[in-house]
Amino acid sequence: MTLHPGDINLASNNDMKRVGGAPYEYFATLRREAPVFWNPPPIDGLALRDLENYEPCGFWVLSKFDDVALASKDTERFSAWENGILWIDLKQSPMALESQRSGLMGMDPPQHAQYRRLVQPGFTPRSVAAMEPHIREEAAKVIGELAQRDSAEFVFDVAAELPMVLLCEMMGVPEERRTEYLELGNGTATVEFNENFVEDQINLFLLLDDLVKSQKDAPSDTLLSKYLHGEVDGRKLTEPEITQFFQVLSIAGHETTRNTTAHFVRLMDEHPDQKALLLEDLEGRLPNAIEEVLRFSPPVMQFCRTATEDLTLRGVDIAAGDKIYMSYISANRDEDVFEDPDRFDILRDNADKHLAFGTGAHFCLGASLARLQLRCVLHELYTQIPEISLAGAPTPMYSVWFNALDAMPVRTCPVAAHG
Ligand code: HEM
Repeated sequence: MTLHPGDINLASNNDMKRVGGAPYEYFATLRREAPVFWNPPPIDGLALRDLENYEPCGFWVLSKFDDVALASKDTERFSAWENGILWIDLKQSPMALESQRSGLMGMDPPQHAQYRRLVQPGFTPRSVAAMEPHIREEAAKVIGELAQRDSAEFVFDVAAELPMVLLCEMMGVPEERRTEYLELGNGTATVEFNENFVEDQINLFLLLDDLVKSQKDAPSDTLLSKYLHGEVDGRKLTEPEITQFFQVLSIAGHETTRNTTAHFVRLMDEHPDQKALLLEDLEGRLPNAIEEVLRFSPPVMQFCRTATEDLTLRGVDIAAGDKIYMSYISANRDEDVFEDPDRFDILRDNADKHLAFGTGAHFCLGASLARLQLRCVLHELYTQIPEISLAGAPTPMYSVWFNALDAMPVRTCPVAAHG
């Protein structure tokens, strides 16, 4: 099917379903014909349409790598604070905008750096490296359990497990409440589809409230404790600031790593030649293979900014106040940066140049942790169960935000079974 600019409305779940998920071909057209393109408000299938007060709005779609990088880095002209980071007009919903502004993702410098500093030490490559033995151990448990079974649903039964356990440990969620936490985290991440979104969000906040109470008088090493006991400008953080931080992590830390793990297994299944290359030298090739999966199938399709002044980009006039959609899935397939971008190639020499983690001030705080988790779980998977294969077609989520899978059946054939 030849697609023309405007054939797909990027804010419509219906359109995502119509084209079968992440619309790579459409973005190829935009990069070629309209790299700065006005996507009007959708007429149907608006993601979030069921939530009160969320207004559809049009936005400028940036599809070239350099433009996405520019908008990410130039926080003065492209603001996260002004009108939120989602593809909707949050100015119509002052409470939702306020709530987003109280979290890291919805702030601009210099305020953003003050808050990021509170938790940054827990995420440096050095701090994360210290977690490696524990992460390896947890990954071995998850894959060990999978190896005992002939088949499984991979996305939620397997890939979700490690990010969930680690996040619970980092936040101090007690073991008996971890399943509940995972469900509520997923419920709030699937804001586009979840009929119980508001209820799940309230329950997530109640869970947080319990955690706050239990950690208030006993400072510890958890991230939550650092936020609870930390100070910005000589004052303690407010309740909405703590809540928002917790919610962002509950979405950012689960959904993304889970889907990257699932995409990795899917892509290896779809490209047996690449899987053979990987298995020839698992230790040596795994890190670059992970970068190539993040480039080829990034789990987050987009975040938005708002123009703070009138500006011109590639000859197109953008007005102050206009929403800007930064397409990571398109930037990562930009032929000006990646040779033959639609080829999945785990030996690609610049695979790690991708923008799957964003760039600039908001560069993903959890990138080192995510990379380590992925290395541990995938190393364990392809060592214990190299024969793992898909037992049916994966079910895409048809989200306008996440490049996500709802389910993916796999068949296992553990190495141990032969031995
Ligand atoms: C493969 C896994 C992941 C991907 C692809 C990913 C992607 C992203 C992206 C695209 C952004 C936004 C950048 C922007 O707005 O410019 C982001 C921000 C963020 N991510 Fe991740 N993420 C991943 C894993 C994680 C994990 C495991 C955590 C924490 C446990 C995490 C925590 C965060 C936080 C706190 C932010 C906000 C940073 C800020 O605004 O300063 N992420 N991530």
